[in-house]
Amino acid sequence: MSSRWVFFDLDGTLTRSEEGIWNCARYAAQRMGFPQPDGETLKQWIGPPLIWSFRNLLGMTEKQAVRAQEIYRERYTAVGKFENQVYPGVRGMLRALRAGGVHLGVVTGKPEGPTRDILEHFGLMKFVERISCATDARAEKDHLIRSVLPEDAEEAWMVGDRRFDMEGGVQAGVRTIGAAWGYGTEEELRDAGAQYIARDAWAVAEIVCPGARRPEGAFLSMEGLDGSGKSTQMEMLTRNLERFGFEVEHSREPGGTPIGEKIRELLLSRENGEMTDVTEALLYAAARAQHVRERIRPAVAAGRVLLCDRFLDSSVAYQGGGRQLGVDRVLALNAEAVEDTLPMVTIYLDLDHRTSLARRSAASELDRLEAEKEEFHARVEQGYHELISRNPDRYVVVDARKDREEIAREISEKVLERLLAAEEAG
Ligand code: TMP
Repeated sequence: MSSRWVFFDLDGTLTRSEEGIWNCARYAAQRMGFPQPDGETLKQWIGPPLIWSFRNLLGMTEKQAVRAQEIYRERYTAVGKFENQVYPGVRGMLRALRAGGVHLGVVTGKPEGPTRDILEHFGLMKFVERISCATDARAEKDHLIRSVLPEDAEEAWMVGDRRFDMEGGVQAGVRTIGAAWGYGTEEELRDAGAQYIARDAWAVAEIVCPGARRPEGAFLSMEGLDGSGKSTQMEMLTRNLERFGFEVEHSREPGGTPIGEKIRELLLSRENGEMTDVTEALLYAAARAQHVRERIRPAVAAGRVLLCDRFLDSSVAYQGGGRQLGVDRVLALNAEAVEDTLPMVTIYLDLDHRTSLARRSAASELDRLEAEKEEFHARVEQGYHELISRNPDRYVVVDARKDREEIAREISEKVLERLLAAEEAG
């Protein structure tokens, strides 16, 4: 059986770590009563040993630098190590390599504790079979690679963003790929012996497994009454998912495509007061048919997470409940538009219709649906509650009156749980 291995450096290759490093450097400087390091100084911080940086970049004495390093490490261990971001495309690349039967490892100059914590925290540990970390005694990359390389490996690669990774790979006799998205330049990587240069993470999958297929992304929807805070929460969720390396794309319904946006104008214009309920439901479904084919399916096929402000459930709640067309009739009208495309997770921002009304009235101009009377919105709310009880596995329900940061935390936690589990499933 063939055994192929790819080893990755961590900082600058799998994760972008400057935020945590810089925050800790600023914190240590402040606690020591030194001026805050500026941007240029911080740029030089990544790479050299800490003591060296405190002495040479901030002008501390040896004794002060030792104390500053302790303060730095305290913060790094508690929070700094998670102020990190998985590079876009890394998750899909690792998944594709695993699907191609390739074994994966991490070879890093970081100590083992934080390395494991970071890989666990970001849900990357499940892809990795071997880890080789620096110790106080040995930190050279070639040694670290040799010590994890199985004897029977038929093919092995080192992927990294700095010259040390490439030189280490060459010395250890493995193939080398320079990760040009990290901290080193292409020139540095080539000079150090990189056989290939990958400009983004996916390029690594193509080099190691030519013809590799991108793993699917996911489709998520956000639902709620008007004024429930969907837009804010979409932004906050996006930031949190991007930290984990998910590539997030936003869309909305009705809309999301040029045709859909035209239909949206028709639907929301208060000039169209004579629109019948069935016309309304069909127009929402027509915009959706376009959206599913033009935006949602292509985004998911390309490995992205498409996060949509409203989807089918809005029709069930507003037209089925609000307009009283009934759930089954609305689902039947939408069957052709949606086919089997349904969200993996639907987030519901739970707000009662009275609070929603109060928040809505504070907004400048109401559209045709927002301007409907209270009973209509009460039925919409009821419609959502029925949907939630019918689809408990798909829904994540959050109290929209809570503090926005708390809401964002709850949503991210549950959505990430689902996205990470889906990666494990294949
Ligand atoms: P928005 O203001 O959240 O962008 O949504 C536009 C309005 O359209 C909102 O009042 C809800 C309504 N709507 C429906 O009635 N049915 C649907 O299928 C969708 C997607 C939205």
